[in-house]
Amino acid sequence: MSATPTMEFDVKDLALAPEGKKRIEWAEREMPVLRLIRQKFATDKPFESLRIVACAHVTTETANLVRTLQAGGAQTILIASNPLSTQDDVAASLVQDWHVPVFAIKGESTDVYNRHVRMALDSEPEIIIDDGSDVVATLIKERETLAKKIIGTTEETTTGIVRLKAMERDGVLSFPAMAVNNAQTKHFFDNRYGTGQSTLDGIIRATNVLLAGRTIVVVGYGWCGKGVAMRARGMGANVVVTEINPIKAVEAVMDGFRVMPIVDAASIGDIFVTVTGSRHVIDRQHFKLMKDGAIVCNSGHFDIELNLVGLRELSHPSVSVRPFVEEYKMRESGHRVIVLGEGRLINLAAAEGHPASVMDMSFANQALSVEYLINNRGRLHPGVHQLPDEVDLEIAGLKLQALGIRFDSLTAEQVEYLSSWETGT
Ligand code: ADE
Repeated sequence: MSATPTMEFDVKDLALAPEGKKRIEWAEREMPVLRLIRQKFATDKPFESLRIVACAHVTTETANLVRTLQAGGAQTILIASNPLSTQDDVAASLVQDWHVPVFAIKGESTDVYNRHVRMALDSEPEIIIDDGSDVVATLIKERETLAKKIIGTTEETTTGIVRLKAMERDGVLSFPAMAVNNAQTKHFFDNRYGTGQSTLDGIIRATNVLLAGRTIVVVGYGWCGKGVAMRARGMGANVVVTEINPIKAVEAVMDGFRVMPIVDAASIGDIFVTVTGSRHVIDRQHFKLMKDGAIVCNSGHFDIELNLVGLRELSHPSVSVRPFVEEYKMRESGHRVIVLGEGRLINLAAAEGHPASVMDMSFANQALSVEYLINNRGRLHPGVHQLPDEVDLEIAGLKLQALGIRFDSLTAEQVEYLSSWETGT
C-alpha cells in the first residue's frame, strides 16, 4: 500500500516507512490489552466514519492506538503533541502503510507545531484525543462554532487535566473531557514505571554518564518523580528530592530519600531532573549555584520547568556537544551547565518514551474512553469525567491475564463479611 494521492500529510521522509513499520509491529507484541480491544473494535465497529484528531507523541505505541481506532471505523488525523518527540519513521509508516494523515516532524518549530494544530482542527473533528490540552485550548480560544459540535475529548496527562479543570472553572469547557491520566491503570504505571525508566534511558542515551555514585536531584515527587527517584536509586545514585507539598515531602523522606529546598540542592547535584508540571522550578539563582558540569533536564510535560531564557542571559552562547546536549558557560563563574533535549521531555527527545508494556494500559484507557464518549453521547455534562472503576479493574485483569499471572478473588464468606457491620471484636 502507499499513501493515497489526495491525502494530505506532513512527515519527514516516506522512505523511512519500512523501518517504522517493523518498530510499530515490535511494540504491538508488548500491547496485548490494546490488541484485544482492537479485535473487539474490528467486529463491533463503534466508530464508523467518526472524525478524530489525535494529538500525541508520535511513537510506535501511539501508532498502535491509531490502528485500534481505525479498526473501529474511525478516520484519525495524528499530530505531534511536542516538537521534539516525533519518531519520523513511525510517522512515515502510518502515512504509507495505514493511510493515516500525520502532521509531525521531529524538531519542527513552534510555528509549524501550531500550524499542525490548526490544520487538524480544520478537519472538524468530533472527538479530540489530547496530550497536554493544546488542541482543546486552541479550539476553545479560536473555534467557537466547532467547540459546540464536539462530542468530547480525552486527555492523557496530569498537566492537561490541570488545564481542563481551569477551563471548567472558568466556564469555557463546553463538552465532556475524559481524564485518562486519573485512571489507576494509567498513572500508577505509565507515570511511575514508564517515566522512571524512560527518563533515565533518555539521560543515558544523550550523555552516556554513569549514574552510580552521582547525586541526582529529582524536582517534584508526584507519580513521575517517584518513578525517577526509585529507578535512579536502583542505578546506584544518591537521590535528593525537592517538593512544595509537605505530604509528598514526608512520603519522600519515608521512602528513604534526602529532602531539601532546591536552593540547597542546587549546589550539591550532579544531575537534575524536573517533573513538577510547574514553571521555572529551576531558575536563574539555582543555575548560578550549580557545580561546574552539572547536567539539567526535564521530564515534565512542558519545557518551561527550567528557566532557559534566564540561563541564556547568564551565559555565553551555548555550544552543542552531542545530539540533545547543549553546554552553557556562565559569564560570571565560568561554570558549565549542560542542558539536555532543549528542556523538553528528555525521555521522548533523546529516547523512545515509555516502553510499550505500560503504554498498553494507558492507550487501552484512551481507546475505551473514546468508546465511552460515543456510547454516552448527549448524556455527559460538560466538564472533566473519569472512566468507571470497573473499566480500570478490567484493564488490570486483562494485563495480568496476558502476563500469565493469576490472582485471588473473594470467597462468598468474605463478600458477606465485607458488606456487613455486625461482626466486631
Ligand atoms: N508518553 C510517554 N511515552 C510515550 C510513548 N511511548 N508513546 C506515546 N506517548 C508517550
